[in-house]
Amino acid sequence: MDENVDKFVAELRKSLSTAAFVKLILSNYKGEDRRLQKISVRQVETKKGSRLMFQFRFETRDVVKNLSHEEAAAEIGKLLSSGFRSGHLFTTENDFQLDIGKRNSRLKRGKPTFIAKPPVAHDREKTRLIDPNAFYLKALGISTDDGRIKAGQQDKWRQINKFIEILAGLVEASPIKDKPNLKIVDMGSGKGYLTFAAYDHFAHNRGSEISLTGVEVRPELVDSCNQIAEAGGFSGLKFVQGQISDFDYGPVDVLIALHACDTATDDALYKGIAANASIIVAAPCCHKELRKQITPPAMLAGILKHGVMLERTAETLTDGLRSLLLEGQGYATKLFEFVPTEHTPKNNMLVATKKNGGIDRSRAAAQIDQLKSSFGIGEQRLEKLLSDNEEKNTLTPLLV
Ligand SMILES: C[S@@+](CC[C@H](N)C(=O)[O-])C[C@H]1O[C@@H](n2cnc3c(N)ncnc32)[C@H](O)[C@@H]1O
Repeated sequence: MDENVDKFVAELRKSLSTAAFVKLILSNYKGEDRRLQKISVRQVETKKGSRLMFQFRFETRDVVKNLSHEEAAAEIGKLLSSGFRSGHLFTTENDFQLDIGKRNSRLKRGKPTFIAKPPVAHDREKTRLIDPNAFYLKALGISTDDGRIKAGQQDKWRQINKFIEILAGLVEASPIKDKPNLKIVDMGSGKGYLTFAAYDHFAHNRGSEISLTGVEVRPELVDSCNQIAEAGGFSGLKFVQGQISDFDYGPVDVLIALHACDTATDDALYKGIAANASIIVAAPCCHKELRKQITPPAMLAGILKHGVMLERTAETLTDGLRSLLLEGQGYATKLFEFVPTEHTPKNNMLVATKKNGGIDRSRAAAQIDQLKSSFGIGEQRLEKLLSDNEEKNTLTPLLV
C-alpha cells in the first residue's frame, strides 16, 4: 500500500481512538464501477455500539453499510488502493487531505474545519417522538451529519413528525396500547421516511419487540431501505417487494398506507380490514377511479363542469365512501387535514379504529348507495373487494 495511504489510515485510527473523528469523505473515483461517485463516512451509535456508517453514493441511489472501527479503517485502506484518488479526513485536531496521482501521492495536514464533534450518541429520552440525530434520517438525506434538518427537507420533517404524533396518539388511546410484539405493516412504503420513523419511535418507546414490514413494489427502494435497516440494527424492520394486493401477513395490529397511489389505497384498506387491524391510517393520494365515473346530479352540473371542482368532488366522494365502507366493517373513522396544504397537496388523512360492537352496517350501506346513485358511480374498488370477499366469506371475523 502507498505510504501516504498508510499514514492517512493511521490518522483515521488515531482519531477514532481519541474520539476526535468528525467525518471522512472519499472522492475522485477512477475505479471500475463507473456509477460510484463518492463515499461519506460518519460515526453512528447503533444497538451494536459505535459504528462507522459508509454511505456509497452511486449515480441514482445510495447504499449504506455500517462497520466497526477496525473494519472501517481496513476498508478505507482498501478503497484508497482500488480507485478512490482523494480522501479527506476531518478530525477536531486537524484536517487531512490525501491526493493520489498516477505516480505519487500527497498527504496534507491542515487546520481543523470542525472544532467540535457532531453529536453521535442516541441518548434519547423515554418520551421523545423523533430524534433528529437518528442515523436513518442522515442515511435518507433528511438531516445533516451534525443532526440538523436540511433546509430542503423541512416539509418532509414536519410531515414525519405530524405522522408520528398522530400514530403514537392513536396507539396510546387504543386497546393495543400495551400489547406485546406490536405488528405493523406499511403499504407502499416508498423511500421509507415514515416507516423508519414509526419503527424507531415504537421500538424505542415500547417495552417489547415490534415487527414492522414495509411493502413496496419498486425493488431498488426495497433494497436501499433494507440496507439502512440492517445498518441501523433495526432487527424488527424489513421491507418486502411486491404488490399491496398480493401481500398477506396474517393478523396485523396497525396498518398504514401513506400516499399509496389511487386504488392502491383501497387495496391497502382492504388488507387492513382483512387482517383485522385495530388501527388503519391512510393518507390517500390521487383519486382517479371515481373522477372518470362521476355524472353530476343536475343541480351540480353547472359547477362540476370545472375540472378543479370535479377533482375535489372525486376526492371527497372517494375518501367519504372509503370511510363509510370502513364504518360498515366495524370501524370508527375520522377524516381530517394531515399537514397544512402549503407543505404538501396530499394532505387528507383517514383514520379508522376498530370498534367493540355497536356496528350499524345498514346505515353505512344506505348512505353509500345514495351517494353512488346521486353521482352515477358504478364501482368503487374497496367496495368491490369487500363484496367479492363477502361472497366468498373470507372476511368472517369482520362482518357482523
Ligand atoms: C407517493 S409514494 C409514498 C411513499 C411513502 N408511503 C410516503 O408517504 O413517504 C407511494 C409509493 O407506493 C408505491 N406503490 C404504489 N402502488 C403500489 C402497489 N400497488 N403495491 C406496492 N407499492 C405500491 C410506489 O412505488 C411508491 O413508492
